[in-house]
Amino acid sequence: MPQVLFDDVKLNDTLSLKNRILMAPLTRCMADDNLVPTDDMVKYYARRAEAGLIISEATIIRPDAQGYPNTPGLFTSAQIAGWKKVTDAVHANGGKIFAQLWHVGRVAHPHFFGGDVLAPSAIGIEGSVPRMRELTYQTPKAATTEDIAQLVADYAKAAENAIEAGFDGVEIHGANGYLIDQFLHYASNQRTDEYGETPENMSRFALQVTDAVIASIGGERVGLRLSPGAYFNMEGDQRDRAVFDYLLSALNNRTLAYVHVGIFDDSMEFDYLGGSASAYLRSLYKGTLVGVGSYTAESGAEAIEKQQFDLLAIGRPFIANPDYVEKVRKGQAIKAYDESMLATLE
Ligand SMILES: Cc1cc2nc3c(=O)[nH]c(=O)nc-3n(C[C@H](O)[C@H](O)[C@H](O)COP(=O)(O)O)c2cc1C
Repeated sequence: MPQVLFDDVKLNDTLSLKNRILMAPLTRCMADDNLVPTDDMVKYYARRAEAGLIISEATIIRPDAQGYPNTPGLFTSAQIAGWKKVTDAVHANGGKIFAQLWHVGRVAHPHFFGGDVLAPSAIGIEGSVPRMRELTYQTPKAATTEDIAQLVADYAKAAENAIEAGFDGVEIHGANGYLIDQFLHYASNQRTDEYGETPENMSRFALQVTDAVIASIGGERVGLRLSPGAYFNMEGDQRDRAVFDYLLSALNNRTLAYVHVGIFDDSMEFDYLGGSASAYLRSLYKGTLVGVGSYTAESGAEAIEKQQFDLLAIGRPFIANPDYVEKVRKGQAIKAYDESMLATLE
């Protein structure tokens, strides 16, 4: 048993975790047609309460944030009530849970909400919605400054709703090519106003959302996921490095629970970052860092011991093994993940 994973950790005065294993956010597309969490989702999360912290599947902050079928929301009273059942069940089993707050930006599809697709710039992505391949992506509308102010307010409102729903905090989804990340990369942000062209301007939306969420629920309960290395729904650009350099130095002046790497395989190296995404974040961010991406308990514990990051998030193995933490503790074999497991909520 890798002992370092089972240390208690006090992240701050508000948040202590019983171990260093986080359940990574995992979209499952199993909410009901009103985007309300179901009773099967209550059981799914409750079974995983041994994690030091569960991060919920990405949860949309408003209707036009949606890009995949049946992803849960946090903007109606029924959705808040549905999540309350999830958080109560996780707490009853001794766990903690954050809500991951999501807007997909240009990865949205009007099929789900019947309106404009908003993004920093009118630059679309190729392809179509997974599981609904007939829905090809559209060229988005460049958000106006009024649209942006409303988006910032809607993130803050969703964070308040998350607290009302009993979550212990929120993780702002700033990674994986979705809305916030679209402002942070040159390939998707070609604005010429105060949200584009320079590192400071391109970081502005991410920082405004972060500050608004901190103001509404307190920074000790706020995590932020970032993908400095473009790898999903995004093209990298050498110039992106300066944007993240700026953003991270600004984040060092704020109180957050943690920053979380958004990556599928942390052995990926990015030329413009001078190595892996986690090594780059560690070199600049002074607070708690959550690592993730094709780790086992053993390789993750080793990375923590080498101080590459502080907490380990586990994704796919948690789908395959609801009792992942227990198995690691007891040294039992971990069942391998395979994609067919996405069909049901075990
Ligand atoms: C089915 C599936 C759904 C995912 N959904 C999300 C999500 O909602 N939000 C997010 O930030 N990352 C999401 N991810 C990425 C994971 O959080 C994680 O970074 C990735 O799976 C790598 O970790 P692992 O190797 O331990 O699985 C998803 C990954 C998978 C496989």
